[in-house]
Amino acid sequence: FSAFLTDSFGRRHSYLRISLTEKCNLRCQYCMPEEGVPLTPKADLLTTEEILTLARLFVKEGVDKIRLTGGEPLIRPDVVNIVAQLRQLEGLRTIGITTNGINLARLLPQLQKAGLSAINISLDTLVPAKFEFIVRRKGFHKVMEGIHKAIELGYSPVKVNCVVMRGLNEDELLDFVALTKGLPLDVRFIEYMPFDGNKWNFKKMVSYKEMLDTLRQRWPELEKLPEEESSTAKAFKIPGFQGQVSFITSMSEHFCGTCNRLRITADGNLKVCLFGNSEVSLRDHLRAGASEEELLSIIGTAVGRKKRQHAGMFNISQMKNRPMILIGG
Ligand code: GTP
Ligand code: 5AD
Ligand code: SF4
Repeated sequence: FSAFLTDSFGRRHSYLRISLTEKCNLRCQYCMPEEGVPLTPKADLLTTEEILTLARLFVKEGVDKIRLTGGEPLIRPDVVNIVAQLRQLEGLRTIGITTNGINLARLLPQLQKAGLSAINISLDTLVPAKFEFIVRRKGFHKVMEGIHKAIELGYSPVKVNCVVMRGLNEDELLDFVALTKGLPLDVRFIEYMPFDGNKWNFKKMVSYKEMLDTLRQRWPELEKLPEEESSTAKAFKIPGFQGQVSFITSMSEHFCGTCNRLRITADGNLKVCLFGNSEVSLRDHLRAGASEEELLSIIGTAVGRKKRQHAGMFNISQMKNRPMILIGG
């Protein structure tokens, strides 16, 4: 495995998340402020050519999974083409996308043909009116349609990302669990994380332990599944149910020790940690004509500086970072 993608703690970074756009057709409260965020001028965003050049380089060094994120990746006009081009890269095993699901039903047949292998869909409530409150737009039924289309086209499991916030949707956990009875879903309850502009506070966060207690009271037979290497999620299953439920415990039990993720932002920065704010512009080096060796050495230096873990629950709530919409999760 490439030394450039291995950090000083021996973590091998084989999973690259690429943000395709800073824009989104929703305005989720936990992701961005109501008024939106200042967007990078188009000329400063990565072109498709640049995205593919970087992807090629990372895959050559050992990345075997790429996830497309945003903003909302499905609003990039050439997203199908990007998936198709990525599919050509030898060594790339998984191409995933994390989407809000609004455009999914419409685009999925083409995306699947192009080679998309995994789908994560954000959905935080099963109540249409609450959906509009959380995401500040309409679209609940489109998202549900997207989820069903993904199942129909054979994606299994289809992952559903549910950010749990006290006072908003923590009363819906069992309804989400019920969805996994007859559908091949992996419903993932995510601890609410702080990012610039999302008004996070400790009281709004519902911890893994608390969520697990709620589930166990109703479903004592809930069974823990074996941990998958480098996964963000702890998975559980109710015997007899088709799907499963998981918890993403970034706040109460971080999983930095097995982190294998790197990120490229839509404006071309390499970000070695979701909560890290030291970034390096790959775009600028590319545009200055850096050779492959030079790029690798820049990437290697950034990966080499990656910290053992993010700074801890209270520290990250005070640190300066990007708003989530400009990171991509
Ligand atoms: P899979 O590739 O299917 O395992 O998905 P994923 O969990 O890596 O990605 P997804 O985009 O579905 O993100 C789900 C949640 O995990 C979001 O809240 C992300 O912010 C969070 N997440 C993803 N990667 C990291 C990470 O490296 N560190 C932390 N703390 N959270 C992460
Ligand atoms: N805390 C936890 N998860 C978040 N996401 C967006 N903002 C937050 C936050 N503040 C999730 C979205 C999406 C994934 C990329 O990140 O629900 O599914
Ligand atoms: Fe858009 Fe996703 Fe952010 Fe919601 S979480 S505003 S869907 S980018």
